[in-house]
Amino acid sequence: MSSPHVRQLQYLSRVFGELLGEFEPESVAVLGVAGGNGLERVDPHRVKRVVGVDINPAYLDLARSRHGERLPGLELVCGDIVSCGLSPSSLDLVYAALVFEYLDPAAAVGRIAEWLAPGGVAAALLQLPSASCGKVSETPFRSVRVLEPHIRLVDPAVLRALFAGHGFGEVRSGTETLESGKRFFLGIYRR
Ligand SMILES: C[S@@+](CC[C@H](N)C(=O)[O-])C[C@H]1O[C@@H](n2cnc3c(N)ncnc32)[C@H](O)[C@@H]1O
Repeated sequence: MSSPHVRQLQYLSRVFGELLGEFEPESVAVLGVAGGNGLERVDPHRVKRVVGVDINPAYLDLARSRHGERLPGLELVCGDIVSCGLSPSSLDLVYAALVFEYLDPAAAVGRIAEWLAPGGVAAALLQLPSASCGKVSETPFRSVRVLEPHIRLVDPAVLRALFAGHGFGEVRSGTETLESGKRFFLGIYRR
C-alpha cells in the first residue's frame, strides 16, 4: 500500500498524462514542477518542448536528474512564476497543479495567458477545503511540510473568473476526492 503522499503524486501525474493524451500539445510547461512528478508521462517523440518552472533550485536538480536523460531538451527555469521570463505565445499546454495556493492567482493567470499560444490550454488543479485533512499531505519531506503556513486555498469560482477576464472559456471542470479524504478541483480553460 502506498502512502497518501505517494497516492497524491500519482494522482497529479495521472491528470497530467490524461491532459497530454487529450490535447496532444507540441509544447508544454509544468508550473511548480518540483522534482518533476508527471514528466514521466511525456513522450519526447510527441512533445517537442517541455518546460518546468519552480522557485526551488534543489527540486529542479532532482527533476533534472530524474528526467534529463530521457527528455534531453527539458528546460528547467528556476524562478518565480509571477516574474520569470518565458516567451509570449509559445506554449500549447500549461499545467499548474497545487501551485496557485502559493502565489497571487491573478498574477499567475496573467502570466499563463501571456505564455499560451492561440488555442492553447491551461489546466489548473486546486486543493479544496476538507474537514478530515491538513492542507499538506503527510510526507517524509520536511521541505514540503514547512510550506503549509504559506498555503492559501483558492476558490475555483475565483480562478474561473480570472481566466474569463483574459478571454478563456472553461472546457470543463470537476472534483476528485482521494482515499485520504483530500479533495481537488481540476479546471481546464482555453482561449
Ligand atoms: C505542492 S508543490 C507542487 C506539486 C507538483 N506540481 C506535483 O505534481 O507534485 C508546489 C511547488 O510550487 C513551487 N512554488 C511555490 N511558489 C512558487 C512560485 N511563486 N514560483 C515558482 N514555483 C513556486 C514550490 O517550490 C513547490 O515545488
